[in-house]
Amino acid sequence: MRLLRLRGRIPGCLSASSQGRTLPASLAACPRIFAPRRSFTVARTSCAAHSPVLTADRYPHLKRDTRYKALTDEDIAFFKSVIKSDAGVITADRPDELEPFNEDWMRRFRGQSKVVLRPKTAAEVAALLKYCNEHRLAVVPQGGNTGLVGGSVPVHDEIVLSLQNMNEIRSFDEVSGILTCDAGCVLEVLDNWLAERGYMMPLDLGAKGSCQIGGNVATNAGGLRLLRYGSLHGTVLSMEVVLPDGRIVELGQPLRKDNTGYDLKQLFIGSEGTLGIITAVSILTPRRPKAVNVAMLGVSTFEGVQEVFKHAKGELNEILSAFEFFDHTCLNLVKHHIPNVREPFTTQTPFYVLIETNGSNKDHDDEKLAVFLENLMTEGVVEDGALAQDSTQAAGMWSIRETITESLAKEGGNYKYDLSVPVPHLYSVVEEMQERLASVGLFDKNGSATGRVKHVVGFGHMGDGNLHLNLTSTGWAKDIDEAIEPFLYEIIQKHGGSISAEHGLGLMKAPYLQYSKSEAFIELMRSMKSVFDPNGILNPYKYFPPLSK
Ligand code: FAD
Ligand code: MLT
Ligand code: ZN
Repeated sequence: MRLLRLRGRIPGCLSASSQGRTLPASLAACPRIFAPRRSFTVARTSCAAHSPVLTADRYPHLKRDTRYKALTDEDIAFFKSVIKSDAGVITADRPDELEPFNEDWMRRFRGQSKVVLRPKTAAEVAALLKYCNEHRLAVVPQGGNTGLVGGSVPVHDEIVLSLQNMNEIRSFDEVSGILTCDAGCVLEVLDNWLAERGYMMPLDLGAKGSCQIGGNVATNAGGLRLLRYGSLHGTVLSMEVVLPDGRIVELGQPLRKDNTGYDLKQLFIGSEGTLGIITAVSILTPRRPKAVNVAMLGVSTFEGVQEVFKHAKGELNEILSAFEFFDHTCLNLVKHHIPNVREPFTTQTPFYVLIETNGSNKDHDDEKLAVFLENLMTEGVVEDGALAQDSTQAAGMWSIRETITESLAKEGGNYKYDLSVPVPHLYSVVEEMQERLASVGLFDKNGSATGRVKHVVGFGHMGDGNLHLNLTSTGWAKDIDEAIEPFLYEIIQKHGGSISAEHGLGLMKAPYLQYSKSEAFIELMRSMKSVFDPNGILNPYKYFPPLSK
């Protein structure tokens, strides 16, 4: 298998490829450097053999709200009368089955729910939710449980209502591309189903094998191709939701145009299970591209990365479908933790960029890409580069980017932040954090990984101005927490950014919402919440800053 190498220092390589000539032997013999793309479920982090500390113990100020009733045998009997299958109600006498629903993917949060409900229909969801509302039983809606902010698991003994068993495709219109499906459909399953019909899901993320479309909508997930296919605020056309009082409500219709009344579905996109339970989604799906190209480039400065982005927007324009970046420490961690990943280039560069194009005419796209890459080489913007020669190599390049999350999680304590700031400031947030942690003696800036904070890295969706700042440490510790927060949120506010670009607020960021939203805005949010969920049974303790007593 050949991987086309584009070394800035070796004149001729790029033009050889762009004119369809044979590659120099040294390049053609390039060894395989990528592991194949990982498929289906995202491996849960497995660094700790034992369970994480209970959230209630780790955050003792998060007292259980006494408004909520404790679960009784009578409640369980009612749930079993609604969901008749044995597998639909998991109780504490099956701890091995119950526990995964209490722990988040990061293994940072752990609740103490005594029951998981897995209804199969919206009518069952309605009956269960109405009962919980009338009896003041708190409920956490749960999709694929891949959320990264502690929103999908209980804090105390809230009931988990999982959408796992609601996974039917309801309809698909092959002309308009409008798909309607149950909220519990797994993203990758939907995408594979659409592939057979020449379509694709408009979003893609590393958790695709486990996350559900309902969870994606509830978090307003962004992912790897938002740059091209837009946010869920644009592609979700309507949804079916169940409100705490048991009403099943259609929010809109599966139409591209509908100007009747408030657009209530928009409120539910990114509501993180605080307003109602999403039971079905209608979404506009694009045609699957006939031509896909993927390239990886090595760049020596973040200014250079921005320069590549400018070129990509200008020269690849309408076919640009992803522009991702990561720093060399991310790459080193992937090489360390993921089998069969090797160095992409002979010399390391501080930054790597992954670019993808999606188009309908391969010759046209290849030509555009050739001009783009040639310009980068001529201007000396990139140090090194590789263009995938087939879909396996393309998948391998994506695999490096997509396994950064897993590699970081394997390091032990992984402090994960997801933020938006204007693109020119994106990486300076990482540097400011490195400075800060070095100044309090927690981090060695020379890269020795000897401090208690071992790595401070940056990667993300450069095309969306979205940075994933991650820290790895020898373990969770209060002094590390305090060195990061609220310092980081102050920097983000200073740059006019958002404390959550795509992962949401959950439990983790709820106390810091005022760094991104005004008091008046938060007050309006609370009013909305009380309209939909007046008894506050849905996903308590999260999303909103605690009310000062
Ligand atoms: P869950 O984690 O189960 O739930 C998330 C939140 O939504 C919770 O508050 C929950 O209560 C609520 N919820 C879930 N389902 C429903 C429902 N049906 N009705 C109402 N509320 C509901 N996120 C990105 O945005 N971009 C990425 O690129 C990305 N990559 C990731 C890569 C990896 C390896 C991992 C582990 C996570 C990644 N994530 C990413 C985060 C996560 O996958 C997304 O937030 C995803 O949308 C969550 O979907 P889920 O089904 O797992 O929801
Ligand atoms: C990503 O872009 O890979 C995800 O948002 C997950 C992460 O931030 O780790
Ligand atoms: Zn992301």
